[in-house]
Amino acid sequence: MRWRIGLIGFGNVGRAFIKLYKEMHSYWAEKYELNASFHYVLNSKGGISKKDGIDLNALVSIAESNGRLDAIPGWKEGLTFNDALEQSSTNLLVEVSPTNIMDGEPALSRIITALAQGISVAAGNKGPFLFQYKNLVEIAKKHNLLLGTGCASGAALPTINFGKYSLAGSKITRIEGILNGVCNFILTRMEGQSTSFDQALHEAQARGIAETDPSYDIEGWDTAAKIIIISNTLMDTDLTLKDIAVEGLRNIGPELIFKAKQEQKRIKLIGFAENPGENVKAGVALQEFDSSNVLYHVMGTRKMIIYHTEPAGQYIVEGGASSPIGAAYALWRDILLNKG
Ligand SMILES: NC(=O)c1ccc[n+]([C@@H]2O[C@H](COP(=O)([O-])OP(=O)(O)OC[C@H]3O[C@@H](n4cnc5c(N)ncnc54)[C@H](OP(=O)(O)O)[C@@H]3O)[C@@H](O)[C@H]2O)c1
Repeated sequence: MRWRIGLIGFGNVGRAFIKLYKEMHSYWAEKYELNASFHYVLNSKGGISKKDGIDLNALVSIAESNGRLDAIPGWKEGLTFNDALEQSSTNLLVEVSPTNIMDGEPALSRIITALAQGISVAAGNKGPFLFQYKNLVEIAKKHNLLLGTGCASGAALPTINFGKYSLAGSKITRIEGILNGVCNFILTRMEGQSTSFDQALHEAQARGIAETDPSYDIEGWDTAAKIIIISNTLMDTDLTLKDIAVEGLRNIGPELIFKAKQEQKRIKLIGFAENPGENVKAGVALQEFDSSNVLYHVMGTRKMIIYHTEPAGQYIVEGGASSPIGAAYALWRDILLNKG
């Protein structure tokens, strides 16, 4: 399969997506017969679009040097998605623009447009899946297209693919996990170094783990978005953000962490969904665990997901880098698994 790719978003993940292709493409070509070219790249101000493909070396060099997209020859200020689609015949849209949890736009409309035109999609942007998950799956199915959600639902941590393939045939009764590396890093620091929430957040920002505006992570929305996508995919629920209660870290003080520590417990931010069917219950909440629970042992930016299933019992998946490269890998993982 030759993937003719259009990329929306050239930030941390978009750049990592390009860099990873450069690094891995020979191996992927040999092992998965991957053959890819890039035909448009857009950011918030415009983009580049080339019917015959954008020069990969130029893209890689800008991605590696953290340079500006408008330095690439052919850059057009104000180039729109519709222009880019028209000018380049692509068969895959990779959507990694910022997640909008208010209405999923403009990514939602762009993904619908792409799917309706027979173009597959792999997205790190969670917004569209929060509002029209079922609709998007239906359109993709109807046209026999890839709709890659792995990056949006845990990135390098395998969540959807593990559930879909390794748990095929089992009934998943509950899913729970530590799904946000930034929050887990902050809680770990607050406990281990007895720092305040603000100090721990500062450290996360200084290390480049948390974004300048970290509210989406620390208010629990990122965890909520992931649990919704995972639950809708694997438990056949139809959850949206308004269906779940979301707790974040904003109000957590050192005294709570200290009290838990004295009782040999740890506080973790957990996303969960259970009882698929009419009584489905899902949410994001701070919970205390003692050392008999595996979630107690997940530290720093690590993530973990636990599946409670029938008939084979509990499964635990942990790992994968919490980083833009980990996120970019998750996009490629979905693409490599789908030969078109
Ligand atoms: N970072 C991670 O590890 C990670 C992991 C999993 C999923 N994700 C998701 O992946 C997405 C990208 O994350 P990121 O960290 O790469 O974000 P980022 O560094 O902020 O980059 C966002 C990119 O999208 C562009 N953009 C903004 N609005 C746009 C619009 N209307 N049309 C086209 N492009 C637009 C920005 O353009 P300008 O440069 O012009 O502002 C920028 O190039 C987010 O939805 C995030 O939730 C991220």
